[in-house]
Amino acid sequence: MKEKIQEIKKDFDDNLKSVSDLKALEELRLKFLSRKGQVTQLFDAFKALPTEEKKLYGKEVNVFRNTLQTKYDKLKADLEAAKVDEKDVIDLTLPGRRKELGSLHILSQTLYEIKEIFKSLGFSVYIGPEMESDHNNFEMLNFPADHPARDMQDTFFINDDFLLRTHTSPVQVRLMETSKPPLRAIMPGKVYRNEAISAKSYCLFHQVEGLYVDTNVTFAELKGTLIAFAKQYFGEDVKYRFRPSFFPFTEPSAEVDLWWEPKGKEGRWMEILGCGMVDPNVLENCGIDSEQYTGYAFGMGVERIAMRKYGIDDIRVFFDNDKRFLTQF
Ligand code: DAH
Repeated sequence: MKEKIQEIKKDFDDNLKSVSDLKALEELRLKFLSRKGQVTQLFDAFKALPTEEKKLYGKEVNVFRNTLQTKYDKLKADLEAAKVDEKDVIDLTLPGRRKELGSLHILSQTLYEIKEIFKSLGFSVYIGPEMESDHNNFEMLNFPADHPARDMQDTFFINDDFLLRTHTSPVQVRLMETSKPPLRAIMPGKVYRNEAISAKSYCLFHQVEGLYVDTNVTFAELKGTLIAFAKQYFGEDVKYRFRPSFFPFTEPSAEVDLWWEPKGKEGRWMEILGCGMVDPNVLENCGIDSEQYTGYAFGMGVERIAMRKYGIDDIRVFFDNDKRFLTQF
C-alpha cells in the first residue's frame, strides 16, 4: 500500500508540473481524482484490506487524498485567475498600423522659404490683422475716398469702416506709424478679394509685403534686393523683367514678371509682385519726414511664386485640401 501511495504521488506531481491550462488540469483530475481515478481506486483497494492493515493506513490514505485535492484546488484557482478573455489577447504577429504624419502645407513651406531668404538679407518679420480698417487699407495708402483706384481691388466690406484686407500693404502703415526709420521688414499674411473664382484668382490668397525706409534708399536697391531674392529662390538663371506700373502708394511703380514655361505649353511671362518707391504722401501720412527719408516697398503673391516654382497652373488646388495634391510636397 505504501509503495502504491508513493507511486501515485510521484505520478501526480509529475503530471501536475506540466499542467498549464484548465484543459490539462481537467485531464489530471480525471486521471487521479475522479470516480474512476487512481486515488479513488486506492480507496477501493484500502476498503478490501484486512482490518489490521486498515488501521495502519487509514489516516495516511486520507491525508494523501486531501493533499492531492488541495494541490489540485490551488492550481485550479490560479489558472482561473490568470485566464484572459480572448479579446484581450494581443496578437504579436499582426503587422503594425502605420501612423500617418501630417506635413506642412505647400504654401506654409513656400512662406517659410521666402521668410528665410529675406531674413538673411536683413529683414525682420512683422504681422498685421486680416480684418483691417478702410483707413489703413486704402486712405493711408493714398487711395482717396471714391477714387477709381479703389476698384483695382474688389473688397469684402464688413461695415462702412472695416473690411477684410485686400492686400498686406496696410501692415506697412502699422509699422511706419509705430516705429521710427530705419525700417526693414517683410509682412506675410492672408488677403481677401471679392473676385470670381477661376484658375487664376481665388477669394483668398497670401502675400508677402516688404518695406525698407531709411535715408537715401534708391530704386536700384529695390531692384537689387528683388533680383537677389529671385535668384536665391528660383536659381541663378531665372528670367525676369521689371515692367512700369501704377500703384497709388508708390511712385515710381513697377511689376516684376518671371518667365514661365509650363511643361508642354508655350512659355509666358507671369506677374509675381508689385513694387515701387514709397510715395512721399504715404510717408507723411505715417508721420515720417519725406524730405529726410525715402523707402521702397513690394508685395508678392505667395501662390504665384509656388505655382511658378512647382509648375502648378491652377490656383484653386492650394485650397481644395485634396491629399493627392498636398502629399506631393
Ligand atoms: N498691394 C499691391 C497689390 O496687392 C502690391 C504692391 C505693389 C505692394 C506695390 C507694394 C508695392 O508694397 O510697393 O496688388
